[in-house]
Amino acid sequence: MQPSRFVSPHLPQFPESLWRATTELPSFPRLNEDIQVDIAIVGAGIVGITTAYLLSRQGCKVALFEAGSILNGTTGHTSAKISAQHGLLYDELLNHFGEEKTQMHYQANRDAKDFIQNTVSNLNIECDLKPESAFLYMEKDDELQKLQKEFDAYVKLGIPGQWRDKLPIPLNVSGAIEMPDQAQFHPLHYLKPLVDEILKAGGQIFEHTTITTLKKDGPFTLTTYRGKHKVRCSHVVSASHFPFYDGGGMYFTRLHAMRSYVVAFQPNTTFAGGTYLSADEPKRSLRTASWNGEELVLAGGENHKTGQSMCTHSHYEGLEEFGRELFGVKSIPFRWSAQDLVTLDKLPYIGQITSGDEGIYVATGFNKWGMTQGTLSGMILSDQILGKGNPYTPLYTPSRFNADPSIKNVVVQNADVAKHFVAGKVGLVQRSAEDLKPDEGAVITHNGKRAGGYKDTKGNLYLVDTTCTHLGCEVEWNEGERSWDCPCHGSRFNYEGEVIEGPATDPLEKLDKDA
Ligand code: FES
Repeated sequence: MQPSRFVSPHLPQFPESLWRATTELPSFPRLNEDIQVDIAIVGAGIVGITTAYLLSRQGCKVALFEAGSILNGTTGHTSAKISAQHGLLYDELLNHFGEEKTQMHYQANRDAKDFIQNTVSNLNIECDLKPESAFLYMEKDDELQKLQKEFDAYVKLGIPGQWRDKLPIPLNVSGAIEMPDQAQFHPLHYLKPLVDEILKAGGQIFEHTTITTLKKDGPFTLTTYRGKHKVRCSHVVSASHFPFYDGGGMYFTRLHAMRSYVVAFQPNTTFAGGTYLSADEPKRSLRTASWNGEELVLAGGENHKTGQSMCTHSHYEGLEEFGRELFGVKSIPFRWSAQDLVTLDKLPYIGQITSGDEGIYVATGFNKWGMTQGTLSGMILSDQILGKGNPYTPLYTPSRFNADPSIKNVVVQNADVAKHFVAGKVGLVQRSAEDLKPDEGAVITHNGKRAGGYKDTKGNLYLVDTTCTHLGCEVEWNEGERSWDCPCHGSRFNYEGEVIEGPATDPLEKLDKDA
């Protein structure tokens, strides 16, 4: 692969999300002793924090563990729309699940939105929560029928929505569905007060603490990386995207990782309001956010499977061009990307991790709609742990099996993994470390062996073994984020090989430059 640089001079050199840049978060210690709690929650994004907030309010002794820093995963890099309009979805769900379950899925997302609104009001949270209509639009005339079918599903299910021939923004469309009464917010300004509430209720939070194993020994012992410390608990929640404990649930065959991008720019013209999502390709999403008293437009999209893009810079450039054509661009203060997990049947996995693993829970696979479905996960899991009934338990149970579409998708997903496992190992590598320019990474041949190389701006060379430490696929260089990304299940590593995102827990092996 040839080196690639931003052609556009306007894009920031380094990725940083608007949410992270405008939130001062507290830091927390590593776990440095053995502890005992009621509930151990692994992963401190919206799922982990909402679950911990709800349980600690009920007097449970909760500890939250984060492998990196809190709110620095997908929750810190989302586009943060609060919506029950998730693209072309309801027509497909109607065909697979029938009317009752599809209606429940819509209602569950509405409940999550109401929960966020009530929490903001009860705790007086200032997080720019703003009601907006959500628009799902189609540009291509020849695909309009798909949007019409989606609208028919709204009518059948009684989902509030209006057909529109035009959008309030200057984008020509063949049709659109407006879903009123959705919302947008600043996700970290919303979640930081929940973190404060957890601490006030006596909850504990540990950062840079990777939980790697779970032992069922009356009831559970969790162990941190390399067995350093133990956590004894009666319930465990995996809120870490790919579950840190699989329990025979075969989650790595039932989830695939997608990346998407956001460019936040100051427009030359006024944005008419609303949030937007394209139903056709390439995927495009729009919303606004305030920054230093000004309004930014957040253009998102350009989705692709993790580790399977030829040039990640081009995705940012595509979004910049999209924004420039619609509104003009004065400046681009932020760009960032996020990783999401997608399930086989498009519904999230929320509940007991397998049918036989009582006391161990998971929430994952939000198919890019983590603000509502992450919140919903907290609501469902806290009810389950407290022994309260929750009407959505059967719908999202991770041990469900729906032959259509699950069988087809599991075959496609695993064929894709097999292809990347083999292709990565036999590909011809012609470049060497000398060919790398400053701030460039690539798979190279070093001393006759395949290696991952990155040369920093000062010319220092970092070499890693490109074999993913999860299940052995070959990682690919991501120039937009300066990371090594695995095309099989989405593990990501920085240029020194340290884990950024799992399921891998071990770093890539560092290679000796002189060996
Ligand atoms: Fe599974 Fe890399 S993430 S092999």
